[in-house]
Amino acid sequence: MLYPLIRPALFSLDPEDAHRFTLWGIDVAQRLGLLGLLPRAAGTPVQVMGIDFPNPVGLAAGLDKDGAHIDALAALGFGFIEIGTVTPRPQGGNPQPRLFRLPKAEALINRMGFNNLGVDNLVRNVVASGYKGVLGINIGKNKDTPNEHAVDDYLACLDKVYAHASYVTVNISSPNTQNLRELQKDEALDALLSAIKLRQSDLAQQHGKYVPVALKIAPDLDDAQIAAIAALLMMHRIDAVIATNTTISRDAVAGLPNADEAGGLSGAPVREASTRVIRALAHHLKNEVPIIGVGGILSGEHAREKIAAGASLVQVYSGLIYRGPELVRECVQALAR
Ligand SMILES: Cc1cc2nc3c(=O)[nH]c(=O)nc-3n(C[C@H](O)[C@H](O)[C@H](O)COP(=O)(O)O)c2cc1C
Repeated sequence: MLYPLIRPALFSLDPEDAHRFTLWGIDVAQRLGLLGLLPRAAGTPVQVMGIDFPNPVGLAAGLDKDGAHIDALAALGFGFIEIGTVTPRPQGGNPQPRLFRLPKAEALINRMGFNNLGVDNLVRNVVASGYKGVLGINIGKNKDTPNEHAVDDYLACLDKVYAHASYVTVNISSPNTQNLRELQKDEALDALLSAIKLRQSDLAQQHGKYVPVALKIAPDLDDAQIAAIAALLMMHRIDAVIATNTTISRDAVAGLPNADEAGGLSGAPVREASTRVIRALAHHLKNEVPIIGVGGILSGEHAREKIAAGASLVQVYSGLIYRGPELVRECVQALAR
């Protein structure tokens, strides 16, 4: 595979420039029909949330925040693509630099801060894409919307993306929007999930189709918090839970260059914490709510570990930066029956 040869050049660039350059490169390769030449693994289809997935390996949110590269990313062999996080209004995100590599730990730290061009732009991109596969749309709140009005932002996004998504993810677990994670707490979460379910039911009537809603949670939760979230997921009949987002812990990377940068840590150091949350969720949810496992998958074996812990689907992000598209094929193959 080419990626190990290209990686040193990409890693010599600023991480955000490398990100943009790579997405431009795969867009060009896709238009030239080159991505069809990539080796593919025959995946095992799965049904989760009532949706048929051609294979259980998805792209995690945050890589294509505006849904501007859906067709090219889909050509890498994913069973599903999650775009976003998108907010009602466009926002620039945090000042750069805001994305850092920790190569020794096969990790990234980001404090992007939901940089995106807004939900209307994302919907235009989805409509313009030719993608017919499973598409998750991940929604959030604007930075300047206070938590008391966060529900309004989620509902505004849900209204706009509903007709265009296979499922919608409610993201309350980014560490880079101040106080966002507070929404994971009992009363706030109860109120948010009630409002979302009510609107989902109205939208299902209006559009004549039911679009499942997933909740994305953080890895930095203790057992009591996980149990409380699991109880609310079951009570409100949320369609899935995505575990997990990035971690604010630095235990696994202490002393490494960039380890003290503020933001969310992803990649290898979050693997265990994410798997622990999946295992605890599986224990509490008793198969009532499916789990999408994400965090630190850098090999097919890691993908299997998430499924063994109780996940029905997996997603990858940081592993792609370290392993390239080969990781998708390896995970699809590892999870094929
Ligand atoms: C640069 C970057 C940006 C991200 N942006 C988002 C985002 O906008 N929304 C979201 O739900 N998760 C976001 N994530 C989190 C990932 O989707 C994933 O949950 C996390 O990185 C753990 O998986 P990984 O170890 O495979 O990267 C982002 C991650 C990275 C590295």
